[in-house]
Amino acid sequence: MHRVVGSSRFVKPRRIGRRQAGPGGRKGGGKGMRFVGKRVLVTGGARGIGAATASAFLKEGARVAIGARRQSSFDAFAAAHPGADIHPALGEVGSQAKSTAVVKAAIAALGGLDILVNSAGYFAEVAVEDIDQAHWDRIMETNVAGTFFCAQAALPELKKNKGNIVNLASDAGLIGYPLGAAYSASKAAVINLSRAMVLELAGRIRINCVAPGNVDTDMIREAADASGNASAYLTRANARSPTKRMATPQEVADTILYLASDQASFVNGAILSVDGGGVCGF
Ligand SMILES: NC(=O)c1ccc[n+]([C@@H]2O[C@H](COP(=O)([O-])OP(=O)(O)OC[C@H]3O[C@@H](n4cnc5c(N)ncnc54)[C@H](OP(=O)(O)O)[C@@H]3O)[C@@H](O)[C@H]2O)c1
Repeated sequence: MHRVVGSSRFVKPRRIGRRQAGPGGRKGGGKGMRFVGKRVLVTGGARGIGAATASAFLKEGARVAIGARRQSSFDAFAAAHPGADIHPALGEVGSQAKSTAVVKAAIAALGGLDILVNSAGYFAEVAVEDIDQAHWDRIMETNVAGTFFCAQAALPELKKNKGNIVNLASDAGLIGYPLGAAYSASKAAVINLSRAMVLELAGRIRINCVAPGNVDTDMIREAADASGNASAYLTRANARSPTKRMATPQEVADTILYLASDQASFVNGAILSVDGGGVCGF
């Protein structure tokens, strides 16, 4: 063990108490209860990264609206979180009308809104020659229009409450992926619609993106199944990062909560990679 000398910067770490360690004394915590009283909408909140994010907000005291397309998805999330302060915001995101309806449902249920996390997203791998209008439209409508119009609908509340938005971009918005032309285009659009919004709204609300590499969720598992050789696909998905594994949904959720928290009060327009170094090069 190193001897502690001199500067207070190098004091021996003390044992972390329960409150500092986060609710439930989560190992490696220390995040506390940063969101007590905050009203949060997580679109795509019943599954994958969205569900991990919604759970993490709940553990830190937030009241959370779960964006879900089906009541059964919300019910499954609710069953896993008995007694939690959660509310359904049912419906698809996409067009202005659909997205606005989901955001309005969340605001009505929560009595306002402080934080929006746009996690609803669609991913499928299709060769350039095979991308048809339906695939293109579904990707662009869900990932681009859904993200933008949910943000637009949330603006009045977020401006009133000095709130913030965290958008799910992707490393695919920063680099190209084979079989991912439409998806990459959609996530690049999420990045730059976020930056453009920052220029209009800085000082009133903050808007940031996370850009995960492969994350071990059903989205990736379904893509693996669709590839015809799931095990080879997952091996490649793990190998793509120099850290040689996918992220966990919890690791992405932790980053989202940081960006949404007061600890990130001067972080605006950031595109925060959560990829184990994946976009550093090959
Ligand atoms: N997993 C990754 O490797 C990865 C990497 C980088 C970025 N991302 C991004 O992170 C976000 C979450 O990904 P994930 O892995 O958690 O995906 P996931 O497990 O497939 O969850 C996506 C969620 O979005 C919902 N959704 C899809 N289309 C929707 C629509 N039109 N309206 C409303 N909800 C819709 C789904 O609802 P249903 O349950 O009804 O289908 C589901 O709850 C996405 O934006 C994704 O592009 C993921």
